[in-house]
Amino acid sequence: MTGVLRPGHVQIRVFDLEESARFYRDVMGLVETGRDNQGRVYFKCWDERDHNSYIIRQAEEAGIDFFGFKVLDTATLDKLEADLNAYGIETTRMAAGEMLETGERVRFTLPTGHVMELYAEKSSVGNGLPNANPGPWNGASEQGIAPVRLDHMLLYGPNVAANKKIFEEILGFFLVERVLAEDGQFEAALWLSCSHKVHDIAFVEHPEPGKLHHCSFLMESWEKVLRAGDIMSMNEVSVDIGPTRHGITRGCTIYAWDPSGNRFETFMGGYQPYPDYETITWDWDHFPQGLDYPQRKLHESFLTIVT
Ligand SMILES: [Fe+2]
Repeated sequence: MTGVLRPGHVQIRVFDLEESARFYRDVMGLVETGRDNQGRVYFKCWDERDHNSYIIRQAEEAGIDFFGFKVLDTATLDKLEADLNAYGIETTRMAAGEMLETGERVRFTLPTGHVMELYAEKSSVGNGLPNANPGPWNGASEQGIAPVRLDHMLLYGPNVAANKKIFEEILGFFLVERVLAEDGQFEAALWLSCSHKVHDIAFVEHPEPGKLHHCSFLMESWEKVLRAGDIMSMNEVSVDIGPTRHGITRGCTIYAWDPSGNRFETFMGGYQPYPDYETITWDWDHFPQGLDYPQRKLHESFLTIVT
C-alpha cells in the first residue's frame, strides 16, 4: 500500500451536540480527543493512533458533511491532486489546522454528490499502549461498544459508475464486489478497496446526492458484535438489522441508528481480497442473501432510509 491508505475521518451532522457526544463517548465507547472553535467534537476509536477519525457537528439536518482518506505522504497527496485535476476534477485545499491536528486536505466533490478529501498528515496520539512491549488491550477497549477502528462508509447517490472510474483509475482502488440491477447489466452497488480489506468504501445508486447509509466500526470478534448488540439494547438504541451475516463481503453485522438517525454498523469478519481477484457479482434475485445471508431478506429500510 503506497497511495491511498485508509478512511481516516468522517464528519457527521447531529441534532443535539451534547446528547450525541454522550452517545458516541459512553455508548459507542469512542475516545473524545478534542473540541474546536467551530463547536465540533472529535473522537477516535480506541485502537486508532491518529488524533481523530469521527467528528460530529450540530446541525438542523442529519447526514454526512465530508469524509477523508489518508494517503502515504505529501508527495502522494500532490500527485493525486494533479491526477484529479488532469482528469477534470476541481480541487480545493483546506488549510492545515482547519481540522484539529490535521494537515492540508485536498477536497473535491464526487459525481454522487459526496465531498471527499485526501490528506497526508494527522497527529499521532497513539492507542494508549506503549510502542515497546505493549499489552493487547487497555481500559479504553472495554468502555462501551469500543470498536477498534472506523472501517468504511456506505454512501448513496446518483451515478456510482462515475465514482467507480475515479476510484479505480485515479485513486488506485479495485472493485471487490458488486450488485447488478434487475436488468442484469447496471451496477446498482459497488464495494471498493484500496487495501487488503474487503471494502474501504461502498456506493449504492440512489436518486438523491450526498446521502449517508452508514459509517462502519470494526469489532474484534463475533462475540464483541453480540456484546455491542447487548449494549444497544441496554441503552435503548434503535436497531435496524442484525445481528446477522452479509453474503456480500461475508461481514457479520449489526446496523443501528445514532440519536439523530445516522445509521452506523458494528461488524467483524469478511475475507481479505487482493487486487488480482476477480470481482464477485450478486444478481438482483440474490441481493436479499447478499444483504442478510441467513434470513435471505431484502430489508426495506436498507434501500430507503438514509440521512
Ligand atoms: Fe458496512
